[in-house]
Amino acid sequence: MHWWQTGIIYQIYPRSFQDSNADGVGDLNGIIRRLDYLKSLNIDAVWISPIFPSPMHDFGYDVADYCDIHPLFGTLADFDRLLAEAHARGLKIILDLVPNHTSWDHPWFVESRSSRDNPKRDYYLWRDPAPGDGPPETRLPNNWQTHFGGDAWTYDAHTGQFYMHQFHRSQPELNYRHPEVLPAMLDNMRFWLDRGVDGFRVDVIWLMLKDEQFRDEPPNPHAAPDARPFDRIEHIYTASVEGIHDIIRQMRGVLDEYDERMMVGEIYLPVEQLVTYYGDGDECHMPFNFQLIQLPWDARVIGDYIRRYEGALPPDGWPNWVLGNHDQHRIATRVGQAQARVAQMLLLTLRGTPTSYYGDEIGMEDVPIPFEQCMDPAALQQPELFELWGRDPERTPMQWDDSPNAGFTVPEATPWLPLAADYRTRNVAAQENDPASMLNLYRALAALRRAEPALNRGDYEEVDLGQPDLLAYRRTWPGSDGFLVILNFGSVEHRLDLRAVLNESGGEVALSTNPERIHGDDIDAFHVAPKEGVVWRSNGR
Ligand code: NOJ
Repeated sequence: MHWWQTGIIYQIYPRSFQDSNADGVGDLNGIIRRLDYLKSLNIDAVWISPIFPSPMHDFGYDVADYCDIHPLFGTLADFDRLLAEAHARGLKIILDLVPNHTSWDHPWFVESRSSRDNPKRDYYLWRDPAPGDGPPETRLPNNWQTHFGGDAWTYDAHTGQFYMHQFHRSQPELNYRHPEVLPAMLDNMRFWLDRGVDGFRVDVIWLMLKDEQFRDEPPNPHAAPDARPFDRIEHIYTASVEGIHDIIRQMRGVLDEYDERMMVGEIYLPVEQLVTYYGDGDECHMPFNFQLIQLPWDARVIGDYIRRYEGALPPDGWPNWVLGNHDQHRIATRVGQAQARVAQMLLLTLRGTPTSYYGDEIGMEDVPIPFEQCMDPAALQQPELFELWGRDPERTPMQWDDSPNAGFTVPEATPWLPLAADYRTRNVAAQENDPASMLNLYRALAALRRAEPALNRGDYEEVDLGQPDLLAYRRTWPGSDGFLVILNFGSVEHRLDLRAVLNESGGEVALSTNPERIHGDDIDAFHVAPKEGVVWRSNGR
């Protein structure tokens, strides 16, 4: 087994984790300061969202130099220190690679846009205006749309052509049909791997290749009448385009030049397509599985999905699960505090690598941000979808303690996004000493997972307890204790006869999400409280 299989990944949004230089934005020295905290969570790897030089139009997902550190976050020397200090504590570091697009400030794009005959012109996707009347800037090359709302083409008057982008206009997309582009990106990967980085989370990996003929995308027959233009077309020429798997195989080849490195691909696709990104064990080590974010919080729906996912995985495809990230509303806001505890139990007891989002371990919630204070380019571009789509609410500063600015930054500084109103009560310091806190539940679950082969590598078997609001499953590993996990997604108590399920084996409750659990371990009258999750240890099986 590899570290990225048995371990837990923890995502840090660096702007919001810990500020060390009083500018209101988190940085690398801040992360170093918090490494002992990270270690105390019993996690194994830290994925840091982009820290490279960038004009920050998309908060670092617009990279202007792949081989340096943004001064806002520190220096390469700070990064090397972070890596050394993390490794000294047994923590891996995963960087965010953004190969689909660069910033418009990247020297490649600066050259590319300088003239039509610049040698780097075709590093990007340039197209003439469509034939016809009207000003050239209105004659779009085709109907492609951006994920952030608006046309995927921006007109550049200087050279009289459009360039393509599926996100913000400051994120021009690279042309992976140009023979020099992929080798250059592979060298960027080697730069960090040579420094000792343990792997990459790869941004929108399934979008990296576009239709060679730039054909219009067809209408989406399933689109709602009021769907936004992006959702009214089917993305068959901008996503999962034929040839993408060859590119990913070459990226994987670079990782395989080194020992024990990994890549996890950001891919939003239905499960049957998602699993093709494992390749034959020669593409992504893991394509992110985002279904716990996308599905309704319903025991049956999630149980069905786990079965479907397990069934779709290729023979050596290692599963993974994600509860939240910097693009999605926080789990505690989506399902409430009690169910958020159940959700952590689910995440940390399923088969496959869990990825946790910073702050979820203390139950941080979305912070409402008024439109006037909105930072997120995706929301600014689609004001009508701001409430639904804005990504600032899940990106607010980490709540460390009850001091002014929550210990995220000094009291005199202004955090780049506002703090949660409840930070004085919901923070790490307050939860440290409370045995019933979400933080200590998280630590206990992560410790149990680490200690128990059944949980960190064992088999998964669903168990039907005959109640639609209960999700139950068994985790087993030969020669080790087995576990029965029972999660109550509902609001009524259940009294269960577990004798048949447990086959009379001995055991006891190892963990409950309910700190006041008063019920004992009677397997013929086993109580599961409303919104309670329980991990039962079966001795020796
Ligand atoms: C996915 C990232 O997670 C998101 O934050 C970003 O805006 C887009 N890719 C574009 O890089």
